[in-house]
Amino acid sequence: MKKFICVLTSCLIALFMLPCFAAAAESKDTSILQFDKNGQFEIMIFADIQDDEFVEESTMQLMREFLDKYTPDMVLFLGDNTVSYTKEEHSRAIANIVSPCEERNIPFAFVFGNHDPEREASSEELLSYYAQHGTLTYDADPDLYGCGNCNLPILSSDGKKTAFNLWLFDSGSRHPDTEIGGYDCVRKDQIEWYKKTAARLKEDNGGEPVPSMLFQHIIMPEVYETLYPKLPFTAGKDYTIKGKTYFPVPFFNRHSGIILEPCSPPFVSEGQFDALLEVGDVLAAFHGHDHVNDFRTDCYGIEVINVPTVGCSAYSDAISRGAGFITLNENDPENYTYQTLYHFDMALEEGSLLPSIEGRDSTFYYKLVKFFRQKILDGFHNLFL
Ligand SMILES: [Fe+2]
Repeated sequence: MKKFICVLTSCLIALFMLPCFAAAAESKDTSILQFDKNGQFEIMIFADIQDDEFVEESTMQLMREFLDKYTPDMVLFLGDNTVSYTKEEHSRAIANIVSPCEERNIPFAFVFGNHDPEREASSEELLSYYAQHGTLTYDADPDLYGCGNCNLPILSSDGKKTAFNLWLFDSGSRHPDTEIGGYDCVRKDQIEWYKKTAARLKEDNGGEPVPSMLFQHIIMPEVYETLYPKLPFTAGKDYTIKGKTYFPVPFFNRHSGIILEPCSPPFVSEGQFDALLEVGDVLAAFHGHDHVNDFRTDCYGIEVINVPTVGCSAYSDAISRGAGFITLNENDPENYTYQTLYHFDMALEEGSLLPSIEGRDSTFYYKLVKFFRQKILDGFHNLFL
């Protein structure tokens, strides 16, 4: 009888627990993310590795050396992370790119880029490969457009509340409507989920929006409205964004850093940027996609930052290649810092293995790249500020 009661009790407990397990699919325990006792939290961003399972050794070594020198609290892969053909190859490519984080016990998350799911593996399958390695990214609502849309709260240093929040969006691949063309955009249902989740975070935070940052592969089209000169006529499709045509060379005095290719957002919007302004929680938005762009600009009060590629295999440029590095300040979230960490600087560090891996006997090449970047390009840019 005792045994029967025990089994019955276990069944009842399991029955009551079911809704809890269902709810767990909508959020994930990210309490591993927490400000340290000095009120700091550091995020390293690796964008556009865009390599197959034989990841270029110089890319791997660059990531390792960045992680060892800067020891971030987490890493975020900003999309176009892997581009293999078969599912097995894709799974191996993912295992390779996350291995520097795993070896150092650094938590990591990722967003999808346009290239990630374009071969045999679907986004859901790719997410399952990342999950095998403990990614913090999860599908908050599998019914939403895209995959891996979620938010990652960062706890205060005393662990008592959510002090900061990270939004991760899937910005899609090509727009499925061929009339519209170009890249896909964040859709209405993703935007509604964002508003609803932000409202819940705000409520839990005593009615104050939780300071946040946004990470998605493809830049939002509104960057053209504030960064590029608008033409008095409509011409062609390529630089006609939200129905207005822009000259593809940006205003020099409206950004810092360098823009080596025109930004490539979708041609249309379903209201994502307006929602960010309405909710008012996002301080900065981080994007990859345009591999050689390394800039910061203000877009209607939100800082938009394009992180250059860390990859040495896909198209890139020695003067901009590197990683993004954010330092959050718990007590003054608006005063976060951001810097691009450069490949050439890392290669010039004492003991760096990059020169020998890249077949360079001396560091002269990296010194030349650094000189060109800092003395000529940045100097030229500063003339306009
Ligand atoms: Fe991309």
